[in-house]
Amino acid sequence: MSGHFSAENIGHGTPGHVPHDGASEQPSHFAFDEDSEAQIATALAKYPEGKQASAVMPMLFIAQKQMGRHTGSAWIPKVAMDIIAARLGMAPIRVYEVATFYLMFNRKPVGRYHLQVCTTTPCWLRGSADVVAAVKQAAGVRNWEEMSADGLFTMTEVECLGACVNAPILQVNDDYYEDLDGPRTVALIEALRRGDVPPPGSTIDRFGSEPIGGRTTLLDVPAREPAVAGHDDHGAPDPHGPEA
Ligand code: FES
Repeated sequence: MSGHFSAENIGHGTPGHVPHDGASEQPSHFAFDEDSEAQIATALAKYPEGKQASAVMPMLFIAQKQMGRHTGSAWIPKVAMDIIAARLGMAPIRVYEVATFYLMFNRKPVGRYHLQVCTTTPCWLRGSADVVAAVKQAAGVRNWEEMSADGLFTMTEVECLGACVNAPILQVNDDYYEDLDGPRTVALIEALRRGDVPPPGSTIDRFGSEPIGGRTTLLDVPAREPAVAGHDDHGAPDPHGPEA
């Protein structure tokens, strides 16, 4: 199937029913919508005249987000990269180079929920293998990069997500779910399947990255006094305040 994606017709796809094969599902047309154009204006304004090519990464993210809004699958078709190249005055190959370098840019359709499982050493030591097994079972996928038959889930293996202290981590679209095990991963995916998106963060109600079981040090730190105008938090005159 060759799709035709534009601001007018791109929104009529059925969420969850997205193409499974990037190579054969490349749309022939893409146009940024009103929301995206507003974001593009903000992105371009950050760079001096003549340096707009620096906005290539924000532009790729804007295109990916728009595809997610309109089709339920956040990815970047080649035609969108070509449009970005034209808008930024770049050779298309330079946009392709950026899009192919970073794992965060999806160059083929992904499920409505992109499940990115960290399997690097700290997560592996903390049970990422159980998370992978649970994702396969609950989402209905067998291999990496595979999309479930209902188009809801794609499972991708990723390297360290920078949240090792709350390992193991599963990233769902833009959010991290932390301190997972097999059963909690299954419960998370079943909730997503129902359309319920649980609050991201620790799945064992750990506060931030505090030790499991709560703080063990700095227990007698006095509560901070409310700041007084013209003084810093410790009561000292604020050199930048009105009394300086
Ligand atoms: S190893 Fe998984 S977040 Fe760092």
